[in-house]
Amino acid sequence: MKLEGKVAVVTGGAQGIGMEICKAFAKAGAKVIAADMGEMKYEQENVSYFPLNVTDVEGCKKFFDDVVAEFGQIDILVNNAGITRDSMTRKMTDEQWNLVLDVNLKGAFNLVRHIGPQMETIGGGSIINISSVVGVYGNIGQANYAATKAGIIGLTMTWAKEFARKGVPVRVNAIAPGYTMTDILKTVPQDLLDKFAQMTMLKRLGQPEEIANVALFLASQDASYITGQTISVDGGMRL
Ligand SMILES: NC(=O)c1ccc[n+]([C@@H]2O[C@H](COP(=O)([O-])OP(=O)(O)OC[C@H]3O[C@@H](n4cnc5c(N)ncnc54)[C@H](O)[C@@H]3O)[C@@H](O)[C@H]2O)c1
Repeated sequence: MKLEGKVAVVTGGAQGIGMEICKAFAKAGAKVIAADMGEMKYEQENVSYFPLNVTDVEGCKKFFDDVVAEFGQIDILVNNAGITRDSMTRKMTDEQWNLVLDVNLKGAFNLVRHIGPQMETIGGGSIINISSVVGVYGNIGQANYAATKAGIIGLTMTWAKEFARKGVPVRVNAIAPGYTMTDILKTVPQDLLDKFAQMTMLKRLGQPEEIANVALFLASQDASYITGQTISVDGGMRL
């Protein structure tokens, strides 16, 4: 049981990649909080649902206080909540730009500003930020999304430095998934998904469990000397 006795918060934990991360963490012995503004799509022992919109600055502070009051502390945070609002740059509205930045980028900051310092105080922790292959290589029609997913990599390196500066082992890493079979791909036409599959070395799209396996590794002591890194889990894709 790699996460025995640990308390983990997973944003966007109600479905998709977040759901698989919650399940994997709970099976590894953690008490898991799935924080999501959407409806829970499953039931799993030791996974509790907390309603949270990560763009709500005061709501994030209250969520942090409530979780610490109920569970004692937070050892692991996965910033996974994310959305797309795709459009070519010349047509992208301010609303599309602002919403994606607010959820994918500021949403992570809204929680880490409380949970990062708390991890320093309790003597360690693991933060995992979900980036994307699009943040590493860019993608046509996703300027807003690419900006957030590249920004998350900068935040990962910055937080790895900031929260460990007193020598406390707070590790901060990112995962950059390739195209992975979840609802977020619902708006992508099948012919494009087939093309993306062919662009990987393994000639297929990813499964959410394959991202969760890496999150479990990064959350655990098996990754005790890994921090500030972005791990690509994309079947060898190059956009
Ligand atoms: N599926 C992919 O191909 C893929 C590839 C690369 C990166 N990612 C990233 O993985 C993460 C998870 O995506 P997914 O594929 O599981 O998508 P998904 O749409 O299935 O799940 C996203 C979850 O985030 C929640 N969410 C959205 N906005 C929120 C908010 N403001 N506050 C709280 N929760 C919110 C949703 O309710 C949902 O449960 C995202 O950050 C996404 O950008 C996904």
